[in-house]
Amino acid sequence: MPVYDPHSYVKPTQAKITHIDFKFNVDFATKTIQGQAAYFVDKFVKGSLYLDNRKVEIVRIHTDGKDLEWELDKQDPILGQRLHLKKLMGISSFVIDFITNPQANALQWLRPEQTLGGDHPYLFSQCQAINARSIFPCQDSPSIRFTYTAEVIVPRPMIAVMAAAPKTIQTEGDLNRCRFEMPQPIPSYLFALAVGNLSSRELGPRCRIYAEAEIIEEAAWEFAETENKLIEAEKMLGPYEWERYDLLVMPPSFPYGGMENPRLTFLTPTVIVGDRSYTHLVTHELSHSWTGNLITNATWEDFWLNEGWTTYMQMRIDEVLQGSDYSQMKIELGRGSMLAAMQRFGMNSKHTRLNYNMSGIDPDEVFSVIPYYKGQAFLETLENAVGRERFDRFISKYIGTFKFQSLSTKGFISFLKEQLPKAVKAVNIKEWIYKDGFPADAPETNSKLIDAVDASVAAYSEGILPTSDDVRNWNQDQITLFLRRLPKAIPVAHCQQLEKIFNLAGGRNYIVLSEYLALAVRSGNDKILPRVEKYIEAVGRGFLLRPIVQAMAETAWSRDMIRPIVERYRDCHHPLTVRMLERILSDAGI
Ligand code: BES
Ligand code: ZN
Repeated sequence: MPVYDPHSYVKPTQAKITHIDFKFNVDFATKTIQGQAAYFVDKFVKGSLYLDNRKVEIVRIHTDGKDLEWELDKQDPILGQRLHLKKLMGISSFVIDFITNPQANALQWLRPEQTLGGDHPYLFSQCQAINARSIFPCQDSPSIRFTYTAEVIVPRPMIAVMAAAPKTIQTEGDLNRCRFEMPQPIPSYLFALAVGNLSSRELGPRCRIYAEAEIIEEAAWEFAETENKLIEAEKMLGPYEWERYDLLVMPPSFPYGGMENPRLTFLTPTVIVGDRSYTHLVTHELSHSWTGNLITNATWEDFWLNEGWTTYMQMRIDEVLQGSDYSQMKIELGRGSMLAAMQRFGMNSKHTRLNYNMSGIDPDEVFSVIPYYKGQAFLETLENAVGRERFDRFISKYIGTFKFQSLSTKGFISFLKEQLPKAVKAVNIKEWIYKDGFPADAPETNSKLIDAVDASVAAYSEGILPTSDDVRNWNQDQITLFLRRLPKAIPVAHCQQLEKIFNLAGGRNYIVLSEYLALAVRSGNDKILPRVEKYIEAVGRGFLLRPIVQAMAETAWSRDMIRPIVERYRDCHHPLTVRMLERILSDAGI
């Protein structure tokens, strides 16, 4: 059932799109996609049909060779424009010819020098949350699902990959014509396309990895456990419904850690560090195959249903595969980021709630890890109230009941009341979902990895720095947590010593570096500037950029330097990342 969605012009009583046949011509010279989309809807439409559109140029709308009347309403800064198809005479399909805008905010066009190979450009999409409408006019609401086919024409030797089953690649002169089919219905935010000079390796019977040739071997090693994760996930969540689970390693400017595009998860290369310490990211995106892609948040107000459930399942699966010390450490780090985000918004801000009215608010603007870790803690609290065995039966029932449907927070609460009345009695559900902040009785994390860090942090406060021997067996997460738990600023000499102890000088571990560079900036170590600059050029992942840019903006010596750096590398970044950087600077009054 389509529901009222504050982030879409879709009118719930109008027809719904059920299938689209796409033709895309990817033109790197003009940074545009010339497209044609044939839409099929679920009933005969008389009168009007509204679609979402952001800056897509409409060339023609027609059916059976006859032009249809249409109008684009005025531009809204968040929603874009309503595309109004008019005076329809009982049609159930229509065709739109269109051209994307070079500034489409779902697309990043990379120059050859921004890729590893350096010889060919690269294009990728990122549609979540409300950016699909900048690639093609659509009903851009997560409560509406459609199947699709696509034919994508790209310059050779590049190929296109999509969140769909690849069918054929036909070479025609200088072009590759790539065909796809997506038989499972998806919401528009899970539409995904990438074009590049890609290689691939098989990881298992259902898993393949795509990346540029320069990094494919390392990537295949880092993510070799993917098929195992899939098998483990199926034990908890039921059969995998999407046939294949492939991975695509993105260029470093990819704005997120991962994106759960169905059949083809997009992954940041910043987690390829050579020791598999960040493969929880794959567990996370894989879990979305059930919680998110099968059961989809009805609107972006219900985002916690996607991310809270997925973070909970990520923890459960990693607990089996890597042990609870590992999974609990990830939760601890995430919770730290969550509390930092809550403090940023203000502990009494509505953005700290799992569910609130978001009309007039751009979901990308308020994106944070709050729904992830507050949602995970809420679900763990429910689990604790009824015991794991009972909760696991609830999980199966949940997936079975709502798969291929969308679900609202209200819908979830009534299902919970019906299925787990004992939990509803024991847990203050209203507080968890509708109140600000983080409940004091949240389940505590528990991990030997955390304890070891806390002992060293305590020693530091007594003036004792750890030795290389002390931290020899530490993993990357422990180093991250240690750096985070030090005072906000420390003596520069200590920074330099820590750099040696943790071997951070030539390091390519962007996650640890994000923490370390921010600490060095706050500590007044201005020698770090060239490395900060290099980092800001190289990394596009928002979660990794924020701590450094914020530290620069909040520290006296670096405050005036950060805007010129951001300006210098604006061009290297994804439109979403540029917006986030702008926001950090303007929030800091720069
Ligand atoms: N679906 C999200 C990424 C996303 C959220 C994109 C909102 C656009 C809008 C993805 O599943 C995700 O959560 N990625 C995290 C992974 C991490 C928590 C393991 C990320 O990008 O860091
Ligand atoms: Zn997620």
